[in-house]
Amino acid sequence: MSDPWLKRLRRRASAPFDRRALARRIAAYHAAPRDVERAVDAAIDLGGRGAYRVKSVQRRSEILALARAVDALAPRVIVEIGTHRGGTLFLWSQLASERVITCDLEAPGPRGVSYDSFPPPGSGVRVDVLTGDSHDSLFRERVVERLGGRPIDFLFIDGDHTEDGVEADYRDYAPLVRPGGLVALHDIAPRQAIATNRVDAFWRRLAPTVDAEAIVEDSDQVGFGIGLVRVASESLGPPSRGMQVDR
Ligand SMILES: C[S@@+](CC[C@H](N)C(=O)[O-])C[C@H]1O[C@@H](n2cnc3c(N)ncnc32)[C@H](O)[C@@H]1O
Repeated sequence: MSDPWLKRLRRRASAPFDRRALARRIAAYHAAPRDVERAVDAAIDLGGRGAYRVKSVQRRSEILALARAVDALAPRVIVEIGTHRGGTLFLWSQLASERVITCDLEAPGPRGVSYDSFPPPGSGVRVDVLTGDSHDSLFRERVVERLGGRPIDFLFIDGDHTEDGVEADYRDYAPLVRPGGLVALHDIAPRQAIATNRVDAFWRRLAPTVDAEAIVEDSDQVGFGIGLVRVASESLGPPSRGMQVDR
């Protein structure tokens, strides 16, 4: 019996227990009063095992500063590009009052069964999970369809981290954000462990053209860093693909 085979067998056998354990963690979270710091800590690591683990790779001070800014906005609708293990989805589910739309290339897998129970019980907040490539125009149409005419209050871009990829996400989705809303880009720190992560290159071109704040704990850090854009009360313009940020 090979190790990977044994591992798969163990994982399958423990799946029902892991699933119930995650449900218990979510219920325990909701049993205590609402608090942004707790929501951030749960987003960083809600716990769980294997495919049922919900977590996010974030610097606590950075995601907490972002969560406070988002909370102050009292957002109705939040859209996230990049779900991964559901950590930030959990956080947005505590902060939105109507709808969270999360998008990823990959299907959510087993932990996805818990996403409907991320929002506080009785809040009426709906979580929509969309699987596909954010750069695909048909996928963007699906997002627009799910919005059903509502503007986005907060957009979190944490998907394709290449310079062209993050630029495309900003160009395609930021115009859907309402005047006065927020857009955040994750991983703007110039030093990154993965060479193709070049959000910083786009951020350096974008920041001088908008109302921008860099939330970066340590200027020497490797990875992380959040670029926050406060959308002017005059909107970014109608949803179009013509937006240009000079190279
Ligand atoms: C850094 S992870 C997101 C982490 C998550 N926001 C969190 O902090 O909990 C990036 C995710 O973006 C997804 N992704 C990358 N390129 C994408 C694309 N073009 N469209 C949609 N999702 C994409 C990847 O599959 C990956 O799961």
